[in-house]
Amino acid sequence: MNMDLSEAYDFAVVTARAAGALLREYYERGVQTEYKGAIDLITEADRASEKLIWDRIRTAYPDCAILSEESGSNRQASRYLWIADPLDGTTNFAHGYPIFAVTIALQIDDVIELGVTYDPLRNELFTAWRGQGARLNNRPIHVSSTPVLDRSLLTTGFPYDRRTNPHNNLRQHNAFMLKSHGVLRGGSAAIDLACVACGRNDGYWEFRLNAWDVAAGILMVNEAGGRVTNPAGEVVHGWSGDVVASNGLIHNEMLGVLRSL
Ligand code: IPD
Ligand code: CA
Ligand code: CA
Repeated sequence: MNMDLSEAYDFAVVTARAAGALLREYYERGVQTEYKGAIDLITEADRASEKLIWDRIRTAYPDCAILSEESGSNRQASRYLWIADPLDGTTNFAHGYPIFAVTIALQIDDVIELGVTYDPLRNELFTAWRGQGARLNNRPIHVSSTPVLDRSLLTTGFPYDRRTNPHNNLRQHNAFMLKSHGVLRGGSAAIDLACVACGRNDGYWEFRLNAWDVAAGILMVNEAGGRVTNPAGEVVHGWSGDVVASNGLIHNEMLGVLRSL
């Protein structure tokens, strides 16, 4: 099978918009929340959005592999892997806090080629196509020009086992709080990365993420002229569980802070 990437891009955009519209309906109506862990939530909106995404991929691309948060893998062997988080920002969503997104990426032979993150409440569609730049509502976007960490605005997130696992990012959060203009906890890794790509934030780091959280966003930051590495400074092209993303200018300072702890 040889995939037409232009068609795949349009497919990802239309699917993310449809899933986002569904999330918006559930958000306005209010949802029942269940617990996957002590503080790890799931709602009927996560499941409905994921079903929509899987149904569409299985119809349009029956031979492709799929990986997504709630259903895991479809166990299809393929060069083409669709990676999706049907609702990134479930904790915000469940509490009625208006920051969440649906995010979809296409990986071919271990390289992320396409990424789409859609914020349905702001009608903001962030897209990236490897080698072709990143866009917000179809306008090219670029990372910020903030030159130093001391003047930067950062975002981060924390793992769901943070009450029991000492590798919970609290020390790093404290350190960056003292060395920047501030550290936001947005609650959606996909939006955090999209915001680095369009220059609203200057840098983002987080540990122990999953592919569906960051696959699209990593491509977006790279395509918007930023830099994405792991904390050791190794370049990330596909996805990584531990991510440091920035406008490039403050990157070495961010790595230095992480190494010093
Ligand atoms: C979470 C969000 C959050 C990040 C967590 C993720 P979910 O995803 O992206 O910002 O800090 O690590 O698990 O559970 O809302 O899909
Ligand atoms: Ca997520
Ligand atoms: Ca999710």
